[in-house]
Parts: sequence; structure tokens; C-alpha cells
Amino acid sequence: MKKRYLVTAALPYANGPLHIGHLAGAYLPADIYVRYLRLMGKDVVFVCGSDEHGAAITVKARKEGVTPQEIVDKYHVLLRDTFQQIGVSFDQYHRTSSPLHHETSQEFFLKLLENGQFEEKESDQYYDPVAEQFLADRYILGTCPNCANPDAYGDQCERCGTTLSPTELISPRSTLSGAAPILKPTKHWYLKLNEHENWLRAWINTGVVDGQPVHDPSQWKNHVIGQCNSWLDHGLHPRAMTRDLDWGVDVPQQIPGSAGKKLYVWLDAPIGYISATKQWALEHGKDWTNYWLEEDSALVHFIGKDNIVFHCLIFPAILKAHGHYILPVNVPANQFLNLEGRKLSTSRNWAVWVHEYCAEFKGQEDALRYNMIKNMPEQRDSEFTWKGFQETTNSELVNNLANFVHRVLVLTHKYYEGLAPDVDHDLQIWSGWNTETARHYDEELLLLHDKLEEMGLEIMRYNFREALRILMEISSAGNALLQFNEPWKAVKTEPEKVRVVLNLGLQYVAVLSVACQPFMPFTSDKMRRMINLQSLSGKGELLFMLNELAEGNPVLPTNHAINTAEHLFTRIPDEVIQAQIDRLEATDKANAAAVLPPGGAPEEPVQASYQALKETIMYDDFAKMDIRTGTILQAEKMEKSKKLLKLQVDLGFETRTILSGIAEHYSPESVVGKQVVVLANLAPRVMMGVESSGMILMAEDSEGRLSFVAPGSAWPNGYGVK
Ligand code: 2FM
Ligand code: ZN
Repeated sequence: MKKRYLVTAALPYANGPLHIGHLAGAYLPADIYVRYLRLMGKDVVFVCGSDEHGAAITVKARKEGVTPQEIVDKYHVLLRDTFQQIGVSFDQYHRTSSPLHHETSQEFFLKLLENGQFEEKESDQYYDPVAEQFLADRYILGTCPNCANPDAYGDQCERCGTTLSPTELISPRSTLSGAAPILKPTKHWYLKLNEHENWLRAWINTGVVDGQPVHDPSQWKNHVIGQCNSWLDHGLHPRAMTRDLDWGVDVPQQIPGSAGKKLYVWLDAPIGYISATKQWALEHGKDWTNYWLEEDSALVHFIGKDNIVFHCLIFPAILKAHGHYILPVNVPANQFLNLEGRKLSTSRNWAVWVHEYCAEFKGQEDALRYNMIKNMPEQRDSEFTWKGFQETTNSELVNNLANFVHRVLVLTHKYYEGLAPDVDHDLQIWSGWNTETARHYDEELLLLHDKLEEMGLEIMRYNFREALRILMEISSAGNALLQFNEPWKAVKTEPEKVRVVLNLGLQYVAVLSVACQPFMPFTSDKMRRMINLQSLSGKGELLFMLNELAEGNPVLPTNHAINTAEHLFTRIPDEVIQAQIDRLEATDKANAAAVLPPGGAPEEPVQASYQALKETIMYDDFAKMDIRTGTILQAEKMEKSKKLLKLQVDLGFETRTILSGIAEHYSPESVVGKQVVVLANLAPRVMMGVESSGMILMAEDSEGRLSFVAPGSAWPNGYGVK
């Protein structure tokens, strides 16, 4: 057991507002984890901050005709306030433009240099002769050599996920001026990542580094390990850690040749976790080194899957290259959340913006949190729909949780003047957990204890959806307790029994008020107000409660006076949901209009070419095919094959090796974690010495582009497709 925890959530770029994909990807899982640790009395520090460097910022500033400083000042405040409104409880929300961060990053750079971790290399790089600037990363666009996407960036193709360098692009052009770039020599510092490959491979796969077990790989998500191994299998290469830019952290001046050079944003951004911890320590009179240098500290990075390589390979290499720093015990990256069947997109405004939600749904912040957690893309991509949001809120939060709490409080006021009744411990009542079982009051308290422990275990395993399900089981059992025992009828005939039922109901509410706090902190506050208890301060209250319940002690003593009942959640009406759907439809129309040529739709409809239909088959022919849902766990390129990727596919009941001819369209990293549909009873076939057992189903258009066929929403593996 570790003595203390340092939990980080990916630093969002300060170039736009926060959307629900960000929330479900990194911030809510981190917040649940941290709030739970605090309730268990752990020493935990939770840091984040705005990522204010890199092309993401400067490109946005140029587009809006303002300075990068204006952009980051505006969005830093918006992001900070949005996190607060939605209840993400950072101990420190810092920013990478702060002097402390610049100093910390420069110290790192100097130390890496001193430790011989860089090679200085002069090479020809693209330069925009019009804008008079070198073109790295997002400053350059061109055609992807892998999938022919005409708008691939200099660092990555967003269509196929391949990592690129600018010189690999076909027909490159500057994003600044549109000019064709010229090659010009420039010098940079490259981190010798190749020298870190072996220990990184061992560390990721066994958890052991320098003979010491650092983490337990069975606790890491399959898709995280899969993506890391795909990178490692390609071989790690020296990676430039500096750029020719005028926005960012300066390469320390004392280094010859540093003029005009800035640190690569992916070097300085993760160091932002360290500077944020330093800032927190300064403000609280603490020692930041305990959290970063001591072996008995657990470092956990919460991120989205697009950041895996940086947090699992590059930043760990940087920490080890510096020396003395601990490595993360886990990087529980989430997959992506989609919105109404499509990828969330900031540029296409296909998003639910969290600050807008908070303004429009005031007092319903936890309804969004609940829906995000219920649909969290923990193992595979998942989906948010407004109708789903309405259905879940109305049935689970209003009908189940709010209704239960309200009924207990109203009945306590009605029968006992708002005081927790005393109980006869020898009486048995019908348990809310099982229609067939009658139990004593004390046994029910123990059962609550066990459920809370179960929920906590799931949180510690990063299974937040499952933990939420267990929380709601407690509420359902509370409702069933009332339903089975019918206090409103029994109050006349069996008053002793009703005292037990309602006292127990109050204990359920008190337990829920603590247990729901990691997921729904505003609801916890409201519930505690209603039962006349103080808001939680996050100083071990759950641990204390578990100990009391284990001893058979109630959470609320007899005669405890409660306050009046309020409604925890309100029903979301159809028109509110329709307004949100209409807004997305309007966005869709605006996007479609924006891609039409000036003057409207083309006069001649574009002729698509369709293949002729194959001959008719009978249903029995179709029924012979066993088609199943699955998830790609690992992917690698097949040596000597341009077309084939070798995939490990989880079919629920087993994991298969399947060779798929998609290598020219997708990089191995980009397909790990994808949900797929598999023809599972296709006879095995050996290709290039590897047996392939099954076929991944893909859609193909007239231009030969491929797209995965997958269930419309997150779906368990191994189920049939008809
Ligand atoms: O992808 C992003 O939004 C980055 N700004 C995340 C940085 S995480 C960390 F390393 F700082
Ligand atoms: Zn591509």
C-alpha cells in the first residue's frame, strides 16, 4: 500500500472550451478516484492546469488575429471556471505560462543535457519563405503517405492515426501562408529514446524496472499496453525536443545555439504536472518532492487515448533520464466518447460544451456527471445521446435515487416528527436486497458495509462504471426496502417494524450521501443538508463510516433530527432535449453548407459508382456465418507486407489472431481499442507464416476508402450480429 498519491489529469490546451469528451476521457475518472481516496483518508494531491504552448495555441491566435497570450488568458480562465462549475476538485489548477513552470522545464532540459540524454543534430527542415518560419508539427499540412489523406499534419495524420514527420508528407504546404515550403538547415536537441526502448518494454509489460516491481501490469488496461507495444515494436527513435518558434519555453540561454529555440510542447507539458505540484506545495507549506521522488508515492496519470505514447513512453523516459523521479503506477487512459453517433469535433462544433451545459442546466451538474460516468469509454469508445441522457436522468436519478431519499425523509417527518426512530434489534424486516429474505437491522448494516467495500474496490481498479452501478444498487435496495415492507400500510398494524424500516432507510440515505460524493458531489451536499449533516470535507469520512458499519453501528444515531426533504433531481422534459437536438441539427446543416462551393450545391450531382449486386442467396446461406462483436487489443505491422496488420481481437470468450488488409489505411496504434465486427467461423488461413482465424468486416466506398463496421454504441464482446 502506498503512503501517498499524486494524481494528474491531462493538461487541456488553452485554445478552446471543455467538451463532454474531455470530461468523460480524463477529468471525471480522475476526480472520482481522488475524491474516493480523500474519503478513505489518503494523502492525495490532484493537479492539472492549462497547456499554453505549442501550435494549438499559436495557430488559434493567428486565426483570430490576436496574440497567443490573449488566447491563453481567455481560455485558461474559462477552463478553470468550467472545471469548478462541474465539480472537478483539483488541488491545483496551474498554467504552463507561469514563471515557475518555465524554470522547472528549463531545469529538466539542463539536467537531461548534463546526463548525456540528447544528441544535437543539424538537419534540413521545412521552412516557410513567406512567413519566415520553420514548419514543424501542425504548421505543415500535406498528403499522408499511409492513407492519402490530403490534410495530414506534420506530426500526425488524424484520419489513420499514423505518427509522421514533416518530411514524410507528400506535397507539403504551410498552414501559415499556404506556400510550398523550402528545406533549410537547422539544429535541434534529440532525446535518445532508442536507448530507453528495452527498459520501457520490460517496465510496461512486467512492471519491473531496475529489478524493482513498480506496477502490476494486470491492473493496466489492455488497450494501453497494446498501444505501447505497437510503438515499441516499431522501434523508438531519437525525438526532437526543441523547435524553432517564438512561443513557448526558451531553451536555456546558457546553451550555445539556443537563440530562437523553444522546448517542444510535449517536453514541457507533462513537466507541468511537476510545476503544478510545486505551486501547490508553496501555497500549502508542503514538500513537493515527497510526491515525485519517494518510492512510497503512487503517481497516476488520467488521460485520453490520444496521449498514451506521451505518458507511457516519452514522459517516463524523460523522468528516468533526469534521475530520481518515480514512474507512474498506472495510466488508466480512456477511449473516446462519441456524440449522437459521430466523433466529437471542436472545429465542427459537434460537441456539448460543458460551460454551456452548466449555464443551461443550472443545479443539474450531477446529471451530466452521472451520464458521463455511466457511459464512460473505459474499455472502448462509447456514446452520448441527448435522448439517452433524458432517459437515464429521469429513470435512474429522479425515479430511483431522488424518489427513495424523498420518501424516507417525508415518512420520517410524518411518523416521527423528523427524528430517527429507535429500533428493536430483534425484529426482522424484509430486506431490500432480496424479496425472499427477512433480516435483522444489524445484518442489513453489515450488508451495506460490504456493498461499500465492493464499490471501493472497483474504484481502485479504475472500473468507475461498475462502481456507479453498485452505488445505484444501494439506492434500488433502499427503494425495495420500502416497497416490500410498505411502511405506509404497516404503520398502524406493526409500528415496531416500521421504526426499523425507516431508521434503516435513513441509514441508507446517510450512506448514500457519502458514497455518492465521488460521482455526484453536489448531490452529496444536498443530501447531507437534508439529513442535517455537515458537507464532506474529504478527510476519511468513508473510512470512518466503514469502520462503524463493520461494528454494527448506525451512521445516524437514534433521535437525530433531519431537515425538510428537497428534490435531488428534476425530470428533464421532452422540449429541453428537443432544443439540444435541434441545435446539433443546425450545426450539422451549417457544416454541410460550409463545404458547398460558393453559389450553393453543384448543378450536376456527383456520380457515385456502385458495384453490381451479387446473386441472391437464401437466408440459410447467410445464417451459416457466425458474426460476432469484438475489440482489437493489439495491432502490429506484418513484416514484408504493405497491406496486412496482425491483430489480437478479444471476442469475449477468447482472443484471436486475425490478419486484416487494412495497413494502408490505419496505423497499428490507431486501431487498438476499436470495437469491430468479426466473421468468426471463417476457416483459418495461413498468410506469410501466420494463421489468421476470422475476418474483420469493413465498409469500402467507390474510392477504396475503408471504415470499420461496428455496433452503434459501446457493446460487449462476443455477441452475435444478425
Ligand atoms: O492533448 C492535449 O490536449 C494536451 N494538451 C495534453 C497534455 S497532457 C500533459 F502532458 F500535459
Ligand atoms: Zn493517414
